[in-house]
Amino acid sequence: MDSKAKTANISSFQHEERVFPPAAEFSATAHIKSMAQYRKLYRQSVTDPETFWAGQAERELVWTKPWKKVLQWKVPSAKWFVGGKLNVSANCLDRHLASPTANQAAIIWEGEPAGAGIHGEQRTLTYRQLHREVCLFANVLKRHGLKKGDRVIIYLPMVPEAAIAMLACTRIGVVHSVVFGGFSAQSVADRIADCQARMVITSDGGFRRGTVVQLKKNVDDALALKDAHGELLAKTIEKVVILRRANNDIRVVEGRDIWWHREVEQVSADCPAEPMDSEAPLFILYTSGSTGKPKGILHTTGGYLLTAKLTTKYVFDLRPTDVYWCTADVGWVTGHSYVVYGPLANGATSFMYEGAPNHPEPDRFWRIVAQYGVTILYTAPTAIRAFMKWGEQWPKKHDLSSLRLLGTVGEPINPEAWMWYHEVIGGKRCPIVDTWWQTETGGIMITPLPGATPTKPGTATLPFFGIVPEVVDDQGRPVPRLSGGKLVIRQPWPGMLRGIWGDMDRYQATYWNEVKGSYFTGDGCRQDKDGYFWIVGRIDDVLNVAGHRIGTAEVESALVSHHEVAEAAVVGRPDELKGQALVAFVTVKTGVVADQKLREALRQQVAREIGPVAKPDDIRFAESLPKTRSGKIMRRLLKQVAAGTEIKGDTTTLEDFSVLARLGSSEE
Ligand code: WT7
Repeated sequence: MDSKAKTANISSFQHEERVFPPAAEFSATAHIKSMAQYRKLYRQSVTDPETFWAGQAERELVWTKPWKKVLQWKVPSAKWFVGGKLNVSANCLDRHLASPTANQAAIIWEGEPAGAGIHGEQRTLTYRQLHREVCLFANVLKRHGLKKGDRVIIYLPMVPEAAIAMLACTRIGVVHSVVFGGFSAQSVADRIADCQARMVITSDGGFRRGTVVQLKKNVDDALALKDAHGELLAKTIEKVVILRRANNDIRVVEGRDIWWHREVEQVSADCPAEPMDSEAPLFILYTSGSTGKPKGILHTTGGYLLTAKLTTKYVFDLRPTDVYWCTADVGWVTGHSYVVYGPLANGATSFMYEGAPNHPEPDRFWRIVAQYGVTILYTAPTAIRAFMKWGEQWPKKHDLSSLRLLGTVGEPINPEAWMWYHEVIGGKRCPIVDTWWQTETGGIMITPLPGATPTKPGTATLPFFGIVPEVVDDQGRPVPRLSGGKLVIRQPWPGMLRGIWGDMDRYQATYWNEVKGSYFTGDGCRQDKDGYFWIVGRIDDVLNVAGHRIGTAEVESALVSHHEVAEAAVVGRPDELKGQALVAFVTVKTGVVADQKLREALRQQVAREIGPVAKPDDIRFAESLPKTRSGKIMRRLLKQVAAGTEIKGDTTTLEDFSVLARLGSSEE
């Protein structure tokens, strides 16, 4: 990885520091009530992690067999609660059935077409009801021969059945891999091929901004795609389960495709939870890296669930009366840990919304907050910046006084957006928890605790219990406070990834070689005088576009797969709304006319290969790409060019890098 010297670039503080003490209400009632209490427990958790984690695992989770060893650790392989057995769905559902939680709402859902009406599409599932649905669907999986360890793809809109399908898998030890509905048929096929899935669970569509997303059609296309040798990519798929959601006209393939609603009529609602090894694979979630195709991040059972449960409990300070809403899609890790597993393990009420924040109007979120009495809202800075742009009049139309805690995740939040969230949405009374973590970490790693930590706009503040982050230089030595470096994690933690599916060498190379013996996050960071961690953003070739993680290499390979393209280089440029925007520099083959039509064709190509989320915002044609003498594309230079004046809409200027290349060559 080429992150050397990049860390030197991280500039010094430019923020005027404002400190917000924890709200009195939280300091009185939250689990952690003061900095002194946080510091004491934190110290215990890192000086004797095994005792700390054993205590938490015993208190928080129901085990069917106790573990023999808390941690078995040899870089880069961690095993937590070795020998222990438990079941995730039993911890999220069955354990609540003997308590008053049984009849509380586990999931409250609203569909997008509900629009403004109070008679729109809403569903509430109590824990008891959710338990029944999960048992039924787990029996459907069994009926079709799925067994412990088999892999299943879930490609669904944000509907309760997404959570039901996930939990049903965990109930019988099937490993799920959720694919975000915004990814293409090609991405679905690649993921099926990579994890050799036996089944796809999808729907006849889902609603997004008033239109129907053609999920089933994408699955049909995925199952017909071939690799370079003419072999079907997704040949391991035996069955496709279709959820009726959009009443959309779809193709049903006899013998392969089955309807969810018909299947559950044919099975019993009795399905005992399978005791699973603590280290049994729980799910695979694909995420972009700096090279090649997305990596299948593997999480396992006991450690992941403990991390999800504990972080949800302490960071969001959940109470039985809360209506907790994490706006992430289940296709991302935030949806796994903070829509499904964390809240349900805590017996909380998790609110789910299917659609876009501005459908039918830009006040949809605030309408929901007021209508359902949402108390905790967890969303992304990119969404907050969009709300800012749409204007205060939209939240002002609604009574947001039910809110008591706000959270953000996915990218650094700029202090302006933080302040707007605090004032306009939080009415100046709600603490904001800016939570830093990654697909790989399983759960929140650096975060304020609302009853204890004074916050400052723009920083995720301090590490969660048991987490040992450090900012280091290129040699792996800790840097002094106020100077920039790479963010690493020094000690293993229960929710950490256990590997990359099918590629342990890549796991070692990506995360453990950059700084010997430590987990490398890929992020640049610095600590301020109080030890608060300020994440600067990715220092590898991964972009964060509107909170979505996109690998430049993937987009480049999608672009060069177009027959008229010779070379492509993709970089990020700062974007007011999305955090980063994607800029592609493209050279075309001899004789090809680089025009607006080609530009559009290339955007479509990327949408087809990866998904609409990865479409470049800007495509610039160049005579040649600036390269070093050894032939490496000078990305730093391209970043500067991209960040400079934007090329106007449909002029198709060819950029000439010959001068720039000479200027920049000494830097790379
Ligand atoms: C990358 C991980 C983890 C949930 C969603 C994203 C960036 C995430 C923050 C934050 C600054 C953040 C980092 C990280 N990031 N949260 N609070 N402040 N940056 O998961 O897709 O795996 O992306 O998102 O760059 O490495 P992901």
